[in-house]
Amino acid sequence: MKLELGVNIDHIATLRQARGMNNPVPFEAAQACIRLGVEYIVIHLRRDRRHIQENDLRLLTKEYREHIHLEMAATQEMTDLAVKYKPGSVCIVPEYPGELTTSGGLKLDEKHIPTIQKTVKILKKAGIRVSLFVDPKADNIRCAKRIGADIVELCTKDYSEAKTEKQRQSLLEELSVAAILGRELGLEVHSGHGLDYDNVEDVANISGMQCLNIGFSIIARAVFVGLPQAVLEMRQKIA
Ligand code: PXP
Repeated sequence: MKLELGVNIDHIATLRQARGMNNPVPFEAAQACIRLGVEYIVIHLRRDRRHIQENDLRLLTKEYREHIHLEMAATQEMTDLAVKYKPGSVCIVPEYPGELTTSGGLKLDEKHIPTIQKTVKILKKAGIRVSLFVDPKADNIRCAKRIGADIVELCTKDYSEAKTEKQRQSLLEELSVAAILGRELGLEVHSGHGLDYDNVEDVANISGMQCLNIGFSIIARAVFVGLPQAVLEMRQKIA
């Protein structure tokens, strides 16, 4: 089975917002990725609108609905926007004010589960496939299944920030075990966060892994080699 690739284009929008002009255009980045056969265009519409804007979501879903994978917090505002524009899939992520990027998986505890579960239900009713971004622990995977998710995205933040080889191997093992459990439970298994050209191969080789969502490293590489080349190089790494 071919490992799918989701390219997160948030930082094309970060660059645009830096000057408040309409350049570079996230839609054009999506077009380039789709032309190369990228399966998913990933965008995170944040409450603070620091990069992707509602209009990007509108334009992207109008043209590429099935390919659009929207990351969002489980809030009323975001749920309403998701239902309005109906991306093919949504990944519910935690979002905290002031964070540089998503800081880890969802807290799936008694306090947070009811809101997440309600959001999953609304999104699914609107015909949107739902993913939950979780740390790779068995309890999280079981909980994702219980509350109706279609997909689990395993957070690779700790793996990508591992300081020693021993730590890296142990976190890789944790991801592998989580992937097996996810598949056994009938969930689709994705991974992402902090993956780059040096650390991606071991995650790509995990049995049962179906899709990797990668943003920063591809966009950073694109600055030097262009987006198509940066995407192709990543595709080669995970083939
Ligand atoms: N997956 C999720 C759920 C994320 O929040 C992010 C960051 O927006 C990514 C994947 C991509 O992470 P990176 O930009 O580090 O590749």
